[in-house]
Amino acid sequence: MTHDTYPTDEPAVVTCGLPYANGNLHIGHFRTYVGGDVYARALESLDQQTAFVCGSDMHGTPVAVDAKRNDEDPESLALGYYRDHKALFPQFNVEFDEYGHTRQQTNVDLTKQIVLTLEERGYIVEREIPVAYDPVADQSLPDRYVEGTCPYCGSKARGDECDEGCGRHLEPGEIEDPVSTITGNDAEYRERTHKFFRLSDLQDYLQAFIERVEGTDNAKHQPREWIFGELEDWCITRDIDWGIDYPGELPDGGDRLVLYVWVDAPVEYIATTKQYSERVGADTYDWESAWQDDGEIVHVIGRDIIQHHTVFWPALLHATDYNEPRAVLASGFMTLDGKGFSKSRGRAIWAQEYLDEGFHPDLLRYYLMTTGGFQQDVDFSWEKFSEKVNNDLVGTLGNFLYRSLLFAHRNFGGTPEADPSETVRTRIEDAIEAFETAVNEYTVREIGTTAVELARFGNEYIQTNEPWTLTDSDPERAAQVIRDCVQLAKAIAVLLEPVAPEKSQALWEQLNEDGSVHDQTVQAALDPPSREFDAPAELFEPLEDERVEQLNAKLDERIQEVSGEAAASSEASGDEPAEIEPLADERVSMGTFEAFDLRVGEIQSAEPIPESDHLAKLMVDIGHETRQIVAGIKQLHDVETLSGTRIVVVANLEPATLMGHESNGMLLAAGEQADLLTTIGDAPPGTRIH
Ligand code: 2FM
Ligand code: ZN
Repeated sequence: MTHDTYPTDEPAVVTCGLPYANGNLHIGHFRTYVGGDVYARALESLDQQTAFVCGSDMHGTPVAVDAKRNDEDPESLALGYYRDHKALFPQFNVEFDEYGHTRQQTNVDLTKQIVLTLEERGYIVEREIPVAYDPVADQSLPDRYVEGTCPYCGSKARGDECDEGCGRHLEPGEIEDPVSTITGNDAEYRERTHKFFRLSDLQDYLQAFIERVEGTDNAKHQPREWIFGELEDWCITRDIDWGIDYPGELPDGGDRLVLYVWVDAPVEYIATTKQYSERVGADTYDWESAWQDDGEIVHVIGRDIIQHHTVFWPALLHATDYNEPRAVLASGFMTLDGKGFSKSRGRAIWAQEYLDEGFHPDLLRYYLMTTGGFQQDVDFSWEKFSEKVNNDLVGTLGNFLYRSLLFAHRNFGGTPEADPSETVRTRIEDAIEAFETAVNEYTVREIGTTAVELARFGNEYIQTNEPWTLTDSDPERAAQVIRDCVQLAKAIAVLLEPVAPEKSQALWEQLNEDGSVHDQTVQAALDPPSREFDAPAELFEPLEDERVEQLNAKLDERIQEVSGEAAASSEASGDEPAEIEPLADERVSMGTFEAFDLRVGEIQSAEPIPESDHLAKLMVDIGHETRQIVAGIKQLHDVETLSGTRIVVVANLEPATLMGHESNGMLLAAGEQADLLTTIGDAPPGTRIH
């Protein structure tokens, strides 16, 4: 089945993955929200009727665990963050048509209705399964209440997700060596009866769905192994207090069960659309037509939650007669100076902090959308940010607009009386076509770059034609060139709107155009510009090196401060520093140690594995041969700078496959930060270590 080209006659819904209401948002989180906003605006500028919706994810252990840690009621914690997030998004020009939360009645009712429909249709079964239990705290340990080892890749993992290794969703009972995150005690497994959604019944449906779903390649490919492999049924209940009560009959003799957060969270996509529809009236936007007839459902998410949106969610929708997603766009993650964001280490640029520095939101929007493709991981540093702003926005876009509009105003009082040339008209038509293609192919980066590319053309055009030399010698030709430039400026305003809505509105007003550029369709790029306009103002200011240095110093200071505070607080409490584990009681023989073939290795090359949050692939020379080693160091080192580093390799481990990449050896590293073990002399690669 192929989908119709946008714009279609059906209403579209664009959603962003719901943020958990348990913490502040940093600029990396905005990759998804700005991505969704840009895509929704771009659809609208193709004249596609669109609702852009989201909400806060209030339930589940992410909220419950944080509330417990702060000794706060989960409801008040979650409501506080819901309000904060709701107020923050518009400050980045992320303008949801509706922003709700998962505890609102609309969502609770819809979720219960969907689960009851599943029951009626025979999709729910009861099963007795082992559930992690903390005998000291005397409670069940679902999801983030338990940590242990991933049974698929051996990495450290939390209860429902292998978050540091292969990224798989884990079912209750699957995690090995479970430890309670409440008390730090070993957990035991106890048998409990839970409700399961018979995902396995929908395998044929999902196999067909994954062939037709559109979006980014990572979203279309990552779930295939699962969908075409052994598709297990999905446990949809949990033994905790915080969540939506299971609406059907409880297992015999069972206590209260709540729904797994991944049931009620995506239903919020429908619930917020419904709330929006009820607010504006079904004549303006009809949620039923969007979700139950033939709407275009587009989910914009982070790549860690692809399987939830391409397996569980479409199965739930299909089983209850809702429309399936037309497209899933999964963004890559963001690193800060080559390393992962880390709240506990102060290594983050908080969204509010960015605004407090006085930076315009559209600058960050542009950076996030055009630095690398949408599904690639993107690094942020103040240097890279300033380069992007100074080169693209100041040097190319701002420069073209300011010089051509100032010239037009001074010499013609605005737009000269002339028709645009064929060359410029064709160039703008090509830009519109590129924009339409980008929307239809979900290449968000191209949506963001079209306007700047047009300005690049404009700069070359004005430079080649030198209108300032023509005003006396050939005034007609001068008028023609400037008429072209004003047309280009108008086209830029229209095509820039999705990525930089406020800046494009400012340009629109400089051009003395009426109303809002947001209400224009792309065809307005070719409409005649206003006859008169005033002298323009610069749209963008350069970012000076000195400012970049100050920002870096501030970030470094905070990282130092947070690590100092962490050390001080552990000293004050008399604790062992957290990273020093107790020594092992059991001794091993020299023979056991000698069984490990440890060698000096030299890293030849290292690169991050794009589809993993933590893994990097290294080619390591160990004297006799060069080995491929996969290691969980992506977030902890600037991996691309590691080549030439000497390391210690365990050379005789059995090869393992991590996220589809063979790892033929293991490198040794110390502590949570994976400090790489190296040599202080010049023992060459291959030297045996005793
Ligand atoms: O992973 C997360 O942050 C979840 N709160 C996303 C939920 S998205 C949706 F499907 F509900
Ligand atoms: Zn794993």
